[in-house]
Amino acid sequence: MEIPRTSIHGEWSSRLAFILAATGSAVGLGNIWRFPYITGENGGGAFVIVYLVCVLAIGVPIMMAEIMLGRRGRQSPMNTMASLAHDEGRSKLWKGLGWWGVLGGFMILSFYSVVAGWTLAYVFRMGSGMFTNATADGVGSIFGQFVSDPERLLAWHTIFMVMTIIVVSRGVKSGLEKAVRYLMPMLFIMLIGMVFYAMNTGYFGNAISYLFEPDFSKLSAEVILTAMGQAFFSLSLGMGAIMIYGSYLPKQTSIGRTTFIVAGMDTLVAILSGLAIFPIVFAYGLQPEQSVGLVFKTLPIAFGQMPGGLLFGTLFFVLLSFAAWTSAISLLEPAVTWLVENHGMNRVMASAWSGLAAWLLGVVALLSLNIWSDHTLFGKNAFDLMEFATTNIMLPLGGLMIALFAGWMMRHESTMDELHIQDRLHLGYRLWQFLVRFIAPLAVLFIFLNVTGVLDWLANIL
Ligand code: TRP
Repeated sequence: MEIPRTSIHGEWSSRLAFILAATGSAVGLGNIWRFPYITGENGGGAFVIVYLVCVLAIGVPIMMAEIMLGRRGRQSPMNTMASLAHDEGRSKLWKGLGWWGVLGGFMILSFYSVVAGWTLAYVFRMGSGMFTNATADGVGSIFGQFVSDPERLLAWHTIFMVMTIIVVSRGVKSGLEKAVRYLMPMLFIMLIGMVFYAMNTGYFGNAISYLFEPDFSKLSAEVILTAMGQAFFSLSLGMGAIMIYGSYLPKQTSIGRTTFIVAGMDTLVAILSGLAIFPIVFAYGLQPEQSVGLVFKTLPIAFGQMPGGLLFGTLFFVLLSFAAWTSAISLLEPAVTWLVENHGMNRVMASAWSGLAAWLLGVVALLSLNIWSDHTLFGKNAFDLMEFATTNIMLPLGGLMIALFAGWMMRHESTMDELHIQDRLHLGYRLWQFLVRFIAPLAVLFIFLNVTGVLDWLANIL
């Protein structure tokens, strides 16, 4: 048996600290901004069901695998994969999985920071009373004007990226724990409050049936791919963020139970967010397909109407900005640990350089929403392209490789040791093995092949 490694970057102070940090990473714009708008674009109920199935059957086992790899390697994703491949006597090429993740993380952080900038801007817009008694049309056009103004977007994107760099440069452990411990529950309570408000719009039933009554005729290969991508995105899987957080996890913590808590909270927040937003959509006669603007075009209407809305609305966007912040730092952390380990950079420089790189790419994303909106590839502007490529392709592929490594490349002794399993016939262990060996990889592969039409083509020639 190998000597257990320790991380040069430190360790979480407790299991709770890890749960808070991982939940901080998972719960973010993905739940409150992306989940509702993607659900709206993909027709509701059937999409939501496929998403939930993906979270359980693919997301949970892969999250366990990713935490496990991180804790066993205790380094940046590249060095973790290199060490583990060495331990298990596997090809050095597995290191590439770490690279793949860091690349994906950069691309996600770039557009993520742009949208997080919108939430920051909306803190001030809510607070200034801009939306008081505003109509749905008014709120919609305010958002339209905002996104077409590159200077504003640039300013907010820059502020958010600097905020992210500052936290990462001080080490993700200091401060994060406190921020998440108090702000996450507050965000949660605010969301529940919004759901109660939405219940009184008279359109809550419509939202329930929209979200939970599946119309399977709306499912297509692409809708299923999008649901799977959303599961990866929302759970922060497939690019080493959860791996690096796992690398700070104390040895005695149970990975299985921890994963269920994090995945459960993440999913709950997404569903609550849908329940808060869609009643407003229907009550004001809006279409569910509002693309990236959905949250920004709906919640301000409600805040503008309700008593105390100025205060609640401002607070809501403050909390959402925090949620985005705690997610963004997990996107930057893998690259930073690598620069520290391999290039002897100190944390501050490493954070600044990697943050700058993501900022630059973010500038491209934000310009593609206005000045460069005519430049498209496959009918998508740069922003959409980055979002699509990372979420629907890079994360599932990264997750697939993580599942294959954990399921097939690692010896039973290694995985059993990490998962604290004594008996190889342990039911939970066997179920997990079955999921990471077969179900998760085959599901990802099947969904990919379906979208690219390979399956149709095969069916035709057979
Ligand atoms: N999960 C976060 C959200 O829902 C975003 C995020 C943070 C992420 N780290 C990630 C997405 C790693 C994919 C991979 O907002």
